[in-house]
Amino acid sequence: MNNRLKIVVIGGGSSYTPELVEGLIKRFHELPIAELHLVDIEDGKHKLDIIYDLTQRMIAKAGLCIEVRKTVNRREALSDADFVVTQIRVGGLKCRANDEKLPLKHNLIGQETNGAGGFAKALRTIPAILDICKDIEELAPNAWLINFTNPAGIITEAVTRYSKVKVIGLCNVPLGMINNVAQILEVASSRINIDFVGLNHMVFGKDIYLDGNKITDLVLKRVCDGAYMSMNNIPDLNWSVDFIKALRLLPCPYHRYYFMTDKMLDEERKAIEDGSGVRAEQVQKIEHELFELYKEPMLDVKPAVLEKRGGAYYSEAAVSLISSIHNDKKAIHAVNVRNNSAIANLPEDVIVEVNAVIGRNGAIPITTGQLPIHINGLIQSIKSFELLTVEAAVLGDYYKALMALTINPLIGAIDIAKKVLDEILQQNISYLPQFKKELREKE
Ligand code: G6P
Repeated sequence: MNNRLKIVVIGGGSSYTPELVEGLIKRFHELPIAELHLVDIEDGKHKLDIIYDLTQRMIAKAGLCIEVRKTVNRREALSDADFVVTQIRVGGLKCRANDEKLPLKHNLIGQETNGAGGFAKALRTIPAILDICKDIEELAPNAWLINFTNPAGIITEAVTRYSKVKVIGLCNVPLGMINNVAQILEVASSRINIDFVGLNHMVFGKDIYLDGNKITDLVLKRVCDGAYMSMNNIPDLNWSVDFIKALRLLPCPYHRYYFMTDKMLDEERKAIEDGSGVRAEQVQKIEHELFELYKEPMLDVKPAVLEKRGGAYYSEAAVSLISSIHNDKKAIHAVNVRNNSAIANLPEDVIVEVNAVIGRNGAIPITTGQLPIHINGLIQSIKSFELLTVEAAVLGDYYKALMALTINPLIGAIDIAKKVLDEILQQNISYLPQFKKELREKE
């Protein structure tokens, strides 16, 4: 077994990196990392420098001998990597703010990974990720790509369809749901298991277990009683009792955008009126605070304020997954992976978010059977939206893009979809060279 692992983090200047570094330090006994490469782009160099210095201090405090390097030359870093973690944000928080504001102008949900916002982010991000994948294919063909980049399900779908890279898509929502249930029951998270079924940010808990005993009804009752079931970036609106009784599944926090659309839209409008702004603007403030802290020469641990972010604790998901692969643990993780019949009524070759057995050869999804009829329609629609979005982004195909937005349940009408699409393309044109020809022809 390789005892000198090389890990490359693309988007290493992200404010989330200290979270990952903390996880790598905690699991060093089972993940013998020799080199940790933090990669960013020229524009992110300032942040990369700060994160690099903090990483050095964290590793020195832990007394570990890990060589940390920083670079804006991705190809130089990738050579012979064992694991590549991607956590990029094409266009930064400025574009995220646009993604969240533009739909709101049309009375649509403005969200980073769902609806029109998630679509815009996917268009910008897919070409960038596929570029990274070309480099991985050439320079580190044996590496595992652990993708955190949002919209994580769509990005994983694009990588699986358009590259040969071995990829597993990861999100902290399933772990967040496990933690929520553990908190409700006041037990350790390690005692809770959930059978996950669905897609990224569209995942349901089918059955829930405490020490192997089914406790689904008990948890759903507590949710009906108003127990907290959310994450920092999503307003914690209580679920309707009738809805949970009818659903008989544990929804994920993002489902509020689909099943409580009007109320969520009100929340988004209120945040603008009271001056908090869209989530990207709130995050800009948190990030500022974080980077000021990160600069402190005395700081040598992950600061608590990082837990205000929606992706808090994502390192636990990432590092335990990497360890399961490296140590061939055959542990169960909820990941984004090729369906392979795990969900009977979705095609075999699409990416789904389900529990999978993780070992040296990657993720083997666990069969969950047919989707219950009452969630089947929504999941099929979102998967069609995702597939069309991937095709549109890769081919620069205006009409696939238009159809993707039209069938998305958060948009759902051709006139509005067309207006939104045209505005998204205009606003993002410098990131979307694949659409330039189409746009010229349409002018
Ligand atoms: C959740 C999601 C992530 C997302 C994050 C946003 O954790 O699972 O996919 O990136 O929230 O958090 P933020 O603090 O940036 O709004």
